[in-house]
Amino acid sequence: MADTRAAVQFPAPLREHTLANMRDHLATLQAIQDALARGAFEQAAQLSEQRLGLSSMEAHGAHEVAPYMPSGMQEMGYAMHQAASRFAIAATTAGATGDLKAPLAALADVTARCAACHAAYRLE
Ligand code: HEC
Repeated sequence: MADTRAAVQFPAPLREHTLANMRDHLATLQAIQDALARGAFEQAAQLSEQRLGLSSMEAHGAHEVAPYMPSGMQEMGYAMHQAASRFAIAATTAGATGDLKAPLAALADVTARCAACHAAYRLE
């Protein structure tokens, strides 16, 4: 299958840093799913907000990597952080209602943002 993703050049240390963040993103999705399955809604909300959401951007060095990203990639990254913050709100609400549908839909929206960026860009 042809690789149609746009190649994006990052300086080597930022590439390493970004890929380590990515591995943490995946580990976080796993931890969120585990928390949801246990009905630990507040834990799921905190994991998402602190490790994927808008609150995580500074810790992830977003301002350092942003200048190397094409604008479309920056927008996709920001959209993922926003979706993770929306999930955190949905999970907190589910803590009161016990209804899993809204947080599951919000989590699918987060995952869709991961997949969209992966389909469009690769690092060099
Ligand atoms: C703004 C774009 C963008 C978003 C959003 C994004 N990623 Fe990535 N991710 C990348 C790029 C680019 C690579 C490198 C792919 C390549 O070079 O083949 C990558 C690589 C990865 C890797 C491989 C890490 C390694 O060590 O090679 C994992 C795992 C990953 N992403 C998980 C995620 C998860 C989970 C999410 C969503 C919560 C996510 N990513 C969101 C752009 C993104």
